[in-house]
Amino acid sequence: MLIPRIIRLLNNFSIRQKQYSIQFSSLYRQINIENSFNNIHKNNQIQLELKSVNDTHVTLIINNKEYKYDWIFLRDSCQCHQCIDLSTKQKLYNTTDIPLTISPQQQTGIKILNNNILEIYWNQSLLNEKNSHIHRSLYLSTWLQTYSTLKNITRSRYNDRPFINWNRNHIQQINLHIQCNDYLYSDQKFYTALKYLHDYGLIFIDNVQGEFTVERLVERIGEIRHTFYGKTWDVRNIQQAINVAYTSQRLGLHMDLLYFEAPPGLQFLHSLVNNVNGGASYYVDAFRAAEILRQNDPEAFEILCSYPVTFHYRNAGRHYHFTRPTIVLNRYSLDNRIDHINYSPPFQAPFESDTSKSEFRKFIRAFQYFRDLIEDQNNQLELILEKDQCVIFQNRRILHARREFDPLSGERWLKGCYTDLDNFKDRLRIFQEKFEPISALEL
Ligand SMILES: [Fe+2]
Repeated sequence: MLIPRIIRLLNNFSIRQKQYSIQFSSLYRQINIENSFNNIHKNNQIQLELKSVNDTHVTLIINNKEYKYDWIFLRDSCQCHQCIDLSTKQKLYNTTDIPLTISPQQQTGIKILNNNILEIYWNQSLLNEKNSHIHRSLYLSTWLQTYSTLKNITRSRYNDRPFINWNRNHIQQINLHIQCNDYLYSDQKFYTALKYLHDYGLIFIDNVQGEFTVERLVERIGEIRHTFYGKTWDVRNIQQAINVAYTSQRLGLHMDLLYFEAPPGLQFLHSLVNNVNGGASYYVDAFRAAEILRQNDPEAFEILCSYPVTFHYRNAGRHYHFTRPTIVLNRYSLDNRIDHINYSPPFQAPFESDTSKSEFRKFIRAFQYFRDLIEDQNNQLELILEKDQCVIFQNRRILHARREFDPLSGERWLKGCYTDLDNFKDRLRIFQEKFEPISALEL
């Protein structure tokens, strides 16, 4: 009886060892594929030490600095194939499935392997787990380093690239032009275009020929965003226009489609014909105006971050409506950076806030300060969008406008198209990872 039991135990042990070793090697492989810090991992061994544990946290020493990690955070972030589907890369359980009292098993539940891998055997299964088992998680020191600070997390997502705020003098020194063929066929040059579009918020593509080539420019970044104006839309002077853009009138600084729940982040305007008198385009960096406000008048900045402004489009059988503040911050960012601006006077509806309160007047004063900054010609880049040029700009950052033109003097025909900023950010991260992968994290 005893011998078969010993054999069974040994068998079970070897199966368990085998399972762990499969799990370990596949996890290692997956981390190596997914982790952006491959290079660091290969070239720069990050030393890991266990300092202490308590009921809720482990304290680790990574390259001589201490960091605390919550057990629930670690269990929630397990990267093994039982926790993350190998094919879809999707998480297979909920954060809320993790018991509040989860921690490593007593005694041998936590260990550092090879000076750079944290190994944990958990003391409990997930809530509602059908087959309770002892789960093992492994964390590479590079992964732990990534999640040690918000700065590192931000960098690992390629989200730490700063914006370069500009005024007229500054932007006129920068070459924002790229040839159409370079944009379409050279990954390196396309990447340069993406970087400029991120940093300054706008670029110009030259020698764009053909009525539908703008669609190819958009699709180099992502799917075209269809709206009720169509897949693409023509900005030309027409009778009975459904939008002021389709007239020859002056069109003041604005952003498009702020009456949508999710206005498109990127706008393309391709000049197919432009030989009229007048009709210059001009652009303003609204992020810079907001930053000046943040510096010079924090109270005005704050009220623009919160006071509700309503936008609508109620015309031609459509009724769109949305309310939002003028400045929106990314509250999760390290530097409390501006996420986007909402400013579009032609599409404002009557205010729907309680305008009997004193905040309304405070808001109007702040709004006028913001207006003064963007209307200052020293802050505006003005140009004629020549035939075969296409401007691409961030619709939630760069305000755009057009001077009046004489419709009898010639023809002006721009073709416009949108895509979402998600597509742009996706391409920027993918190309950054290709051409300028993160080489070091600062601890
Ligand atoms: Fe517009």
